[in-house]
Amino acid sequence: MRAQLSADDVALLEAIAAQVGTPTYVYSADQIRARFQDFARALAPLDPLIAYAAKANSNIEIMRLLAGLGAGADIVSGGELRRAEVAGISPQRIVYSGVGKTTQELAAALDAELFQITLESLEEARELSSLAVAAGKAASAGLRVTPGIELSGGHQKISTGCTSTKFGIPLDEALSAWQEIHALPGIRLQGPAIHLGSQMLSLEPLRNGLELLDGFISLLKSEGFAMDTISVGGGLGVAYQTSDRAPPLHAYAELILSYASRWNARLILEPGRWLVAGAGRLLTRVIRVKQSAKKQFAILDAGMNDLMRPSLYDAWHEIAPVAIETGQSCVNYDLVGPICETSDIFGRDRPLPVLQSGDLVTIADTGAYASSMAGNYNSRGLAAEVLVENGRWRIVRRRQTLDDLLALESSL
Ligand code: LLP
Repeated sequence: MRAQLSADDVALLEAIAAQVGTPTYVYSADQIRARFQDFARALAPLDPLIAYAAKANSNIEIMRLLAGLGAGADIVSGGELRRAEVAGISPQRIVYSGVGKTTQELAAALDAELFQITLESLEEARELSSLAVAAGKAASAGLRVTPGIELSGGHQKISTGCTSTKFGIPLDEALSAWQEIHALPGIRLQGPAIHLGSQMLSLEPLRNGLELLDGFISLLKSEGFAMDTISVGGGLGVAYQTSDRAPPLHAYAELILSYASRWNARLILEPGRWLVAGAGRLLTRVIRVKQSAKKQFAILDAGMNDLMRPSLYDAWHEIAPVAIETGQSCVNYDLVGPICETSDIFGRDRPLPVLQSGDLVTIADTGAYASSMAGNYNSRGLAAEVLVENGRWRIVRRRQTLDDLLALESSL
């Protein structure tokens, strides 16, 4: 169990709920700062580019906070490029990954002169080449290779290193792809990239992936190719529940350093979840408690549109009431949202103190892949986001109103 909230935290969350409403994502700037600094310190011997994977949480204030600490960004869309620019991240610290960059997105990336556009196919490389030639530019590019590691992430849906994946180029085709891309005009091919999967709770898949990447690097070198960058992606997992054994940062760093120290190229890391997951809570209110012969449901005002992870990946998040009186007996609740889907459930049979309508509840570890994956299902507006810093809080995204939503439909 996570440590119980302090009296100050309870007062803070109650004030936020009263003034901003619920559901609201509440982030701790101090925790994000501490995580980034720990990460940077552990990898410092190689002075890497730490390109924060913006998809984990692309709130501009969070990106700005990380940029201020020295982070770059790993982006996957024109939208994230815009956010990175607004957050003040220099193009020379931006890496652009993604299997389906559109022509417009490639052109924008070229125009912005990013540090690296990581290519995921020969077809994409050919298109980038012709765009670059037409624009009279040379794009700095990486090539994503897929080592063929099965189940490299915390769930099959977030494992990306296997051979059947849409991502990257399989290792056994990578040398010929490299040779072809290297010969294309308008592209400066500067290094290979891997990303095996997300929420890795074991370092073994990464060790295997690094070994295979290392072999590929040696092959490229023996063919006379030089490398300026090597990206090892993101993926370091976090403990969502006490039974999760997340690899310690130092073990992860030691593993990366043991390979990267002999590569003699700029190391790129793309951490997302590890930096921000634990720094966020989704603050929600119990709409009502519903009893049936078999079940007690606590229906929350947050829904699967605010946090997709449990319904999409059967992910576990700790759920706890904000104010807990000592000595209360527990009841097993199914904590559900108000959305018309059976999959709109955050936790099953969770023993919690007796809940009542109006009670505040938080869903923990929702700093990553919660708000950034949210949607408008059931015509629900996006929740507000609040950043807490030095005991003070401010709204970093206002709640989306129904007027905001309806304004997009031209028939009105
Ligand atoms: N680099 C690339 C190329 C990626 O595709 C990703 C994540 C990352 C870095 C960052 O990975 P991280 O350090 O955050 O594990 N929605 C899922 C996670 C999807 C991750 C996709 N790619 C979830 O909620 O678990």
